[in-house]
Amino acid sequence: MVAPKRCLISRAEIARRVTELAERIGRDYAGRDLVMVGVLKGVFIFMADLVRALPFSVEVDFVRLCSYGAGTTTSGEVRITKDVEMSLQGRDVLIVEDIVDTGLSMAFLKHHLASHQPRSLKICCLIDKKERREIEVPLDYVGFPVEKGFLVGYGLDCGEQSRTLPEIYVVDKD
Ligand code: IMP
Ligand code: MG
Repeated sequence: MVAPKRCLISRAEIARRVTELAERIGRDYAGRDLVMVGVLKGVFIFMADLVRALPFSVEVDFVRLCSYGAGTTTSGEVRITKDVEMSLQGRDVLIVEDIVDTGLSMAFLKHHLASHQPRSLKICCLIDKKERREIEVPLDYVGFPVEKGFLVGYGLDCGEQSRTLPEIYVVDKD
């Protein structure tokens, strides 16, 4: 059964914000050697839009993380089920993530990618659920701060459902 949904961020708002983020990233990384590392699967639509809005081409790679736990909460134990495939040594690396919630996934991934000895390592996320943070992790580029609620659409899923909706919705939970 599909839970009732309320539209939180429209297509136009998403498009405007993605353009703004791409302009900032474009300025900050002009003349640099940027690799974007996306966190599958939720990031696939955001990252596709973001790279195409940049004023230069970038290399891309992907990781996939798994946090043990059921339903809509994390257990806090993160592991990598798919690692990067290109060398990041000496490169300017920008992690691209859909949502930072407790921060445990990003803290883990940042620590992991730092061991590849990149020249720089920053984070760009579409949604920042700052109020729910359990571990501090600096976010360099944020699309939208969101206080609470479980979000779907624009790549974000709830049990693999609703990823392909073009807007971002809040799922009303009982
Ligand atoms: P964290 O480790 O608690 O920060 O969890 C971050 C990950 O949990 C994100 O990459 C998402 O995959 C997932 N997540 C957290 N909140 C939501 C949500 O509202 N909708 C969909 N996925 C979410
Ligand atoms: Mg994710």
